[in-house]
Amino acid sequence: MSDLPLARRPIGIYDSGVGGLSVLRDIRTRLAADTLIYVADAGYVPYGEKSRHAIVARAIALTDFFVSQDVKAIAVPCNTATAAAINVLRERHPDLPIVGIEPAIKPAAKLTRSQVIGVMATTGTLASPRFRALVQREAPHARIVLQPCPSWVLAVEQGMVSGAQAEALVAPAVDAVLAEGADVLVLGCTHFPFLREAIAARAGADVPILETGDAVARQLQRVLQECGAERQDDAPGTTRFVTSGDPDALARVASRLLGVPVTADVLPAAYR
Ligand code: DGL
Repeated sequence: MSDLPLARRPIGIYDSGVGGLSVLRDIRTRLAADTLIYVADAGYVPYGEKSRHAIVARAIALTDFFVSQDVKAIAVPCNTATAAAINVLRERHPDLPIVGIEPAIKPAAKLTRSQVIGVMATTGTLASPRFRALVQREAPHARIVLQPCPSWVLAVEQGMVSGAQAEALVAPAVDAVLAEGADVLVLGCTHFPFLREAIAARAGADVPILETGDAVARQLQRVLQECGAERQDDAPGTTRFVTSGDPDALARVASRLLGVPVTADVLPAAYR
């Protein structure tokens, strides 16, 4: 434990890999001065095809790591991990603010005219009781077209996010969802905003594409304000990148996705 004042302690953020970096950008915009620790759990990617039990075990290990780093809050910008594990994490750490993410079903229900919403997400998210409850609560009258896209996760992990290859990758799923009558697309996996350009090129300018990165950043800012833990310094905050996979691969792909040079460390063995 450090004796840093609460506001100066780091914030822990994790995803199965680089997907959560799409939300990290939004968090950095709102929390400019904070120290961020981003863990890419790349030794276990993809989460979307794993059992709930396996995802909960990783969530426990990674939050234990964050606690060892004396974090003041944790963000889980991973729809799959939030759906599987956020309740368990909140029970284990009742005094630590833990912010999750959920697909943008609520805004989609407001926007759709056809009452058909396409949701691109992982198999795990789409099959989860948490996702079913979200749909029942926020879009009881809409038809939801479920589109698991596991190959998109793997492409983004490789840094393959633009150009003809990316367009060919997203085309079949986008076409399938639009053919069902969807007039709004929800990106319910944090890897997918990196493919946004390719998805938009295929779907056309009239189809809104929704994601929830900024909603997570806003909620994180709100909970920090509520507990008097918001950091207000003028100096820009730093971000540490850590992975349970290959640090060179994370450095290479994160540099590409974020457009700034990134170096990465290996997650200590106890948490791998
Ligand atoms: N980025 C994650 C999500 O938001 C998980 C992707 C995966 O590992 O399958 O669901």
